[in-house]
Amino acid sequence: MDTALRGRRVLLVIGGGIAAYKSLDLIRRLRDAGAAVRVVMTAGAREFVTPLAAAALSGEKTYSDLFDGEDEAAIGHIRLARDADCVVVAPATANLMARMANGIADDLATAVLLATRLPILIAPAMNPAMWTHPATRRNLATLRADGVHVVGPGVGAMAESESGAGRMSEPLEIVAAAQALFAPGEGPLAGRRVLVTSGPTHEPIDPVRYVANRSSGRQGHAIAAAAARAGAAVTLVSGPVNLPDPPGVAVVHVETAREMEAAVRVALPCEIAIFAAAVADWRPARESGRKIKKDGAAPPPLALAENPDILAGVSAMETGRPALVVGFAAETNDVIENARAKRLRKGCDLIVANDVSQESGVAGGVMGGARNAVHLVDEAGVESWPEMDKEAVAERLVAALAARLSGREGGA
Ligand code: C5P
Repeated sequence: MDTALRGRRVLLVIGGGIAAYKSLDLIRRLRDAGAAVRVVMTAGAREFVTPLAAAALSGEKTYSDLFDGEDEAAIGHIRLARDADCVVVAPATANLMARMANGIADDLATAVLLATRLPILIAPAMNPAMWTHPATRRNLATLRADGVHVVGPGVGAMAESESGAGRMSEPLEIVAAAQALFAPGEGPLAGRRVLVTSGPTHEPIDPVRYVANRSSGRQGHAIAAAAARAGAAVTLVSGPVNLPDPPGVAVVHVETAREMEAAVRVALPCEIAIFAAAVADWRPARESGRKIKKDGAAPPPLALAENPDILAGVSAMETGRPALVVGFAAETNDVIENARAKRLRKGCDLIVANDVSQESGVAGGVMGGARNAVHLVDEAGVESWPEMDKEAVAERLVAALAARLSGREGGA
């Protein structure tokens, strides 16, 4: 018997479709597979099945109203979004999928779906005309790109004596898809923990102003995604970026260097730590609690204080140091020479160096651009890679790190 759901907590969101009656059976099947089930229903779902039936089968109160003081007092929607191991949406109606794809949170179910960072599995169920409509196609593509897992729908007889694609998968198929969310990964980093930092940091001057840099987070996010694809359990500590969270990655959002350092410490231990963030070296020495007024004649002085060096701190750990610590170096001149010196200064195993000068020749510039040309600098020497997409750099870097890790463990 598959034990992947044993002891797992499943948050089941029941949408408003006729297939909701099958979701009652799904509760029982999930529990048979060893999971604890908590149910959230949309208003539409309540037209098809009762909260009482779901509560009787799950053994827990059923939640349905975002603005119900009693529900919020018992357990807020943010806690509902966190206190589980995965979210299953069944049936995922066309309307529910559309709201999810657009980040609409106008009831408890969608507020929870927007607030959660847990793996989400949807079991679409709708009439074939709705399933094949271009709007649903677009929404499905968006949800997939956001990392949402999909089971079904099946083809067959539908409630309205129609037939075609749109029929919700059977409860046991949904259970199997939920189990697959927890199956041990495959790939060169299966069973490994990888930590990645990405993006800039914002260092506040006052409540409305901050010091920052041009990092987009594209390279770091691509590395986190590639490590997840290679089977690793990945934590991405990200500064403020305009990028979606990579699929299958646990993302911790931070603003400042000091928050980033704290989040990194929480995410340890891990086997590989990759510090791709452009951490601000300095922060305003004093953060004003109020907006600084422009009423004086002279501009206010901006005194700076040094931020913690997260990479150097982790590299110097005496116990629990990751087996591979990787730093990045953005240089505008003497790239390799500076990277060599930086590797020794920081105490890391490897430096990924890139030329961020305007003259680097990389189309669009490296900072914020889509492409990168890097040099890998380690104790043995330098390996220079040709210019390529940041995704390709990420893929190749992850493969190189996986090989190094297993080489070390093999005593090489
Ligand atoms: O010293 P520099 O900022 O050039 O070093 C870059 C490398 O160090 C990057 O890997 C970056 O993520 C890391 N770093 C850090 N904490 C800092 C500054 C840089 O982790 N405060």
